[in-house]
Amino acid sequence: MLYPELFKSMEAVRWNMAADIPWDEFDGSKLSDEQAYTIKMNAITEWAALPATEMFLRDNRDDSDFCAFMSVWFFEEQKHSLVLIEYLRRFRPELVPTEEELHKVRFEFDPAPALETLMLHFCGEVRLNHWYRRAADWHTEPVVKAIYKIVAQDEARHAGAYLRYMKRALAHRGQDFGQQARLAFSKIGVLMASAHRTAQALHPTNLHVNKQLFPNDTVQSQLPSPGWLENWLDHQICFDKEWEGKVSSRILHNLSLLFDTTFNTVQDLNRYRKGLLRNEPSLA
Ligand SMILES: [Fe+2]
Ligand SMILES: [Fe+2]
Repeated sequence: MLYPELFKSMEAVRWNMAADIPWDEFDGSKLSDEQAYTIKMNAITEWAALPATEMFLRDNRDDSDFCAFMSVWFFEEQKHSLVLIEYLRRFRPELVPTEEELHKVRFEFDPAPALETLMLHFCGEVRLNHWYRRAADWHTEPVVKAIYKIVAQDEARHAGAYLRYMKRALAHRGQDFGQQARLAFSKIGVLMASAHRTAQALHPTNLHVNKQLFPNDTVQSQLPSPGWLENWLDHQICFDKEWEGKVSSRILHNLSLLFDTTFNTVQDLNRYRKGLLRNEPSLA
């Protein structure tokens, strides 16, 4: 079981909302209206950990270790939402999300293959870590800069925890399961590590998750401003090619370690994936 150890290591570095955020350093002259509004959008997006947790628990019923870890992940993601809401409550109360706005991102996700979802969320955490690091640079108000830095570190740790479960899937559950995991991780890896910006930002909250609700079945589509994410990435935090490249390298680097093979480019990973399919067509 990984849960006890992950619990311990994450508890050891956990920050405290009252003590570790430099609330006293707030400087209102350094917070613009457009910056404040993006904090609201991030707060609501973080709240989507709620439907994601419901999905994880449902799709991993046979895995109590992972489901126990979800308690830590869920707690920390809701805390991300809460710290952003607390910032707005103190300094821009008119922008605090309503309960209705938060509840809107809670809708059912279609069942999905657990291994693919795991990899998707690993990549999502890596990506969010980079987005928040850029957000910390872009913001000018010291308290919110500190918040984004702290939260970005949590997202990196979440990626690390998911990676542990990915490693476990490869090693400890028999040959067939390991091969299936390899295929699932490389398949999603190819999609998520494409360095150039695709039409749609590649994050779990921006992917379609419920056929019946299409096209309004992404978390982002349920936000008060559904188009805000692209504007945030392109014109505010300026998440450019160089940053996309960092996300891609991080994913490829970790998959290289995981599979004990070197992937310098997405094409390398795609070749590896095709090789797996050739050797075991039954897994396709
Ligand atoms: Fe988060
Ligand atoms: Fe996270």
